Amino acid sequence: MAGERRGPAATRARVLAPLLLLTCCVRCAAAGGGPSNIILILADDQDVHLGGMIPMKKTKALIGDAGATFVNAFTVTPLCCPSRSSVLTGRYPHNHEVRNNSLSGNCSSAAWQQGPEASAFPVFLGKQKYQTFFAGKYLNQYGKKDVGHVPPGWDQWHALVGNSQYYNYTLSVNGKEEKHGDVYEADYLTDLITNRSLHFLDDRSPQHPFFLMLAPPAPHSPWTAAPQYEKQFADVKAPRDGSFDKAGKDKHWLLRQPVNPMPESSLNFLDSAYRKRWQTLLSVDDMVEALVQKLDSIKELNNTYVFYTSDNGYHTGQFSLPIDKRQLYEFDIRVPLMVRGPGIKPKQTLQAPVLNIDLAPTILDISGTNLSSVNVDGQSFLPLMAPSLRNGTARPFFLVEYTGEGHQTSDPSCPKLGPGLSQCFPDCVCEDAFNNTYACVRTLERQHDLQYCEFADSESFVEVYNLTSDPHQLENIVKKVDPAVLQAMNQRLIKLQSCQGDSCRVGN
Ligand SMILES: *[C@@H]1O[C@H](CO)[C@@H](O)[C@H](O)[C@H]1NC(C)=O
Ligand SMILES: *[C@@H]1O[C@H](CO)[C@@H](O)[C@H](O)[C@H]1NC(C)=O
Ligand SMILES: *[C@@H]1O[C@H](CO)[C@@H](O)[C@H](O)[C@H]1NC(C)=O
Ligand SMILES: *[C@@H]1O[C@H](CO)[C@@H](O)[C@H](O)[C@H]1NC(C)=O
Ligand SMILES: *[C@@H]1O[C@H](CO)[C@@H](O)[C@H](O)[C@H]1NC(C)=O
Ligand SMILES: *[C@@H]1O[C@H](CO)[C@@H](O)[C@H](O)[C@H]1NC(C)=O
Ligand SMILES: *[C@@H]1O[C@H](CO)[C@@H](O)[C@H](O)[C@H]1NC(C)=O
Ligand SMILES: *[C@@H]1O[C@H](CO)[C@@H](O)[C@H](O)[C@H]1NC(C)=O
Ligand SMILES: *[C@@H]1O[C@H](CO)[C@@H](O)[C@H](O)[C@H]1NC(C)=O
Repeated sequence: MAGERRGPAATRARVLAPLLLLTCCVRCAAAGGGPSNIILILADDQDVHLGGMIPMKKTKALIGDAGATFVNAFTVTPLCCPSRSSVLTGRYPHNHEVRNNSLSGNCSSAAWQQGPEASAFPVFLGKQKYQTFFAGKYLNQYGKKDVGHVPPGWDQWHALVGNSQYYNYTLSVNGKEEKHGDVYEADYLTDLITNRSLHFLDDRSPQHPFFLMLAPPAPHSPWTAAPQYEKQFADVKAPRDGSFDKAGKDKHWLLRQPVNPMPESSLNFLDSAYRKRWQTLLSVDDMVEALVQKLDSIKELNNTYVFYTSDNGYHTGQFSLPIDKRQLYEFDIRVPLMVRGPGIKPKQTLQAPVLNIDLAPTILDISGTNLSSVNVDGQSFLPLMAPSLRNGTARPFFLVEYTGEGHQTSDPSCPKLGPGLSQCFPDCVCEDAFNNTYACVRTLERQHDLQYCEFADSESFVEVYNLTSDPHQLENIVKKVDPAVLQAMNQRLIKLQSCQGDSCRVGN
């Protein structure tokens, strides 16, 4: 292992040298000469692996074709609250300590508010004199106890209380409660986020750059489409290829439980969910179009970075699991990621792996923040998409970690199942359990694409996939692979599970 990890000193030197050029390069990239604006659009539960971007034609044209599409973008944890906490802090879950979607698992908890949230990236944008705006879903437990809490760093705050909804929700508007009903023209949340962001852009001060984070509820359940899109995609079904309805016989305990082949009721349920998810995304596609048009009309389009991504992926029928996220497989950990902006050449398809913990350092890098003063585990990917602005290298491997959710008692609608499980619908197939707790290391380089995962369950189960030969993860090769490879991956995993800052940024 010696020599594989760079010492902190070497890493710092690599980060610092380009930083000296920062203020000039990024700020003067656009002809206007002002500091660059930044917009981050974060969808909820949008997969990229099973066609989640297909309905978003305008987004692909206005962001992807106008800039860079990262085809190997991952979340470091495939569940909303831990993933969003990673986006905000640039840290792995073992460092921000948000474990699940409950208050007791630190989702928007007091400990989170006093700790990680107080040094999340928006705080540093405030220090760089950015005008900041948030609208949409924040963290699953946000505002349930106190809508008065506005996290530091935000000038304008329009945050959803609790988990994604499209109607009948409550917002915290700069700390004041605002209740909404179910009239499309007044309340549809995706459109409301769009409208308020456009007003913010009209009202902004031209003296300072702006940062907007827009977090629509789509395509999360309850999948409520705008009225004009309710009839779209009538013939669309979830894709049937790859691992669809394949039995997960050689996989961890939870994956050996689903009914296989899936009953008709599960198939109908997941096809309907798949269609409705696409319908809800059409309003997000409209959001992107409206924003780009507004940026153009206020003459800021060529001085604004626009990021489009999601908190985690999603599955519909893979390995006979009906619908959800939370699994270590490609469909749940891969996310869409597209970026346009100054210095990014159009129509680029980038292969280097990037993570959701890289968003915070990338955004701060653009803002002119000195990254060595920020405590993040991720690294800026500005050099990958805009090499004329910054030198840098990609990481060859990374960590994905997840703490399974369960219930202490058994599900009353599934009396045959014991306690410790959760998300057992439809047809009493459970998508999660306390022992669906795992950590994986992924090696992703030109010649290697290998995933190694260890479970914290009674079997200490191990799954290994060679994604070069088996992109759908149909065969767990733990018993076939060279033991030396297993040992090296195990060692790498142990180091990453306790990494912090520089020691997470392994690579050459
Ligand atoms: C960034 O911060 C580090 C540590 O605080 C400091 O040593 C360095 O000089 C700073 N770099 C720049 C470009 O200001
Ligand atoms: C950016 O847009 C402004 C206003 O439309 C224009 O004057 C300027 O030349 C553009 N800059 C670049 C780099 O294209
Ligand atoms: C919640 O976070 C605090 C520190 O921010 C930590 O001490 C505590 O152990 C965390 N709780 C869980 C369940 O991880
Ligand atoms: C919103 O709440 C009202 C009153 O409880 C209810 O009648 C209506 O069906 C709800 N609308 C939606 C879309 O859930
Ligand atoms: C958003 O703005 C459009 C155009 O002004 C309007 O038609 C629509 O009703 C608004 N929707 C919401 C939810 O505010
Ligand atoms: C990148 O590195 C090369 C070679 O060291 C150097 O010539 C170039 O100026 C650097 N570019 C930037 C943007 O830092
Ligand atoms: C969330 O994490 C906490 C702390 O580990 C745990 O007590 C709680 O049961 C978890 N919630 C769920 C739904 O698993
Ligand atoms: C996982 O948890 C379930 C529910 O508590 C239990 O029935 C099962 O035996 C456990 N499996 C392993 C491998 O730990
Ligand atoms: C993975 O598969 C590729 C292509 O078949 C093969 O070249 C490589 O040796 C395999 N790697 C491992 C670790 O088995």
